Amino acid sequence: MNKRIGLLTGGGDCPGLNAAIRAIVRRASLDGDEILGIKNGWEGLVEDELFELNRESVTGILPRGGTILGTSRFNPLKDEQTLKRLKENWLKHGLAGLIVVGGEGSLSAARDLWRDRQLEIVGIPKTIDNDICGTDFTFGFDTAVSIVTDAIDRLHSTAESHHRVMVVEVMGRHTGWIAAYGGIAGGADVILVPEKPFRMSRVCDLLEARKAEGRAFSIVVVAEDAHQHPEEPFLTEDECGVIYRHDRLGGIGEALAREIERCTSIQTRVTKLGYVQRGGSPTAFDRILATRFGIKAYELARDEQWGEMAAVRGNKIVSVPLTDAVGDLKRLDEEIYRVAEVFFG
Ligand code: F6P
Repeated sequence: MNKRIGLLTGGGDCPGLNAAIRAIVRRASLDGDEILGIKNGWEGLVEDELFELNRESVTGILPRGGTILGTSRFNPLKDEQTLKRLKENWLKHGLAGLIVVGGEGSLSAARDLWRDRQLEIVGIPKTIDNDICGTDFTFGFDTAVSIVTDAIDRLHSTAESHHRVMVVEVMGRHTGWIAAYGGIAGGADVILVPEKPFRMSRVCDLLEARKAEGRAFSIVVVAEDAHQHPEEPFLTEDECGVIYRHDRLGGIGEALAREIERCTSIQTRVTKLGYVQRGGSPTAFDRILATRFGIKAYELARDEQWGEMAAVRGNKIVSVPLTDAVGDLKRLDEEIYRVAEVFFG
């Protein structure tokens, strides 16, 4: 008998989600299995917003950013009543299993529902942050890095003309993957990441040394959750409260630019890239990775390999237990940071 499998996208959107949806639907149709799309992440399963996805519904979506299913940051485990409604809808639609395309939050919920409530679930890791364990890359990351690289290239020319320091604040939540990759690709002169608390004195020394050597402009990339070194604080407690809010990071770039200008007297400007890093068409790399993840996840569901997540190791698509993928974040690789550091100053 053919299977009916649910599909949802949860958490922050990222380029490549539609490529994954298309791959799942197209691959399932080869086996005659049915995919039910769930609107707006976990919320749609609780609110009973499910609809059939077929070849027609996924035509033309490969290059499109965002997700045709919609998404939300909704916790299905928030109380027993929510969970009860989720299970009722699961049974009502006769789901044999569920594919969850998510980041840390959605995949943690998937792990809990599989491990503690015996729901048949497989996962696909997506996020621009690239912070999911068990996989070398998540899709969305490569596109975000390309956008950051392009922005840095553009900022170089205006920085050079005005002999300014340009501070570029990028996303990444608690890890420095986007900052490091984007900064290396864009030729940044200083890169500040959450994994390495920074000293203002060192940042200013590097910028002043560049100026003294005749390079009167600089690009500083700062990750949204980069922290000051505790031995050299320059942010007030109030500022920290605003910049490092749990659910909405942002603002370190402004504070850093102000401090750089104060300490070095070099004119400094700031660009916060924000949500532009998550929007638009995915790169070819992300389209291919999302497509491969989609096919793998469908096959895991078809073969009833519940509790697993599609992942990439080297150039091979593999599966890893959801329990290994969540709970901790994949921090920036030390080797990548050392590469970035070679070009500081
Ligand atoms: O996790 C992806 C991400 O874009 C982070 O880089 C950022 O901190 C966060 O989401 C923003 O979340 P929201 O969409 O809830 O504002």
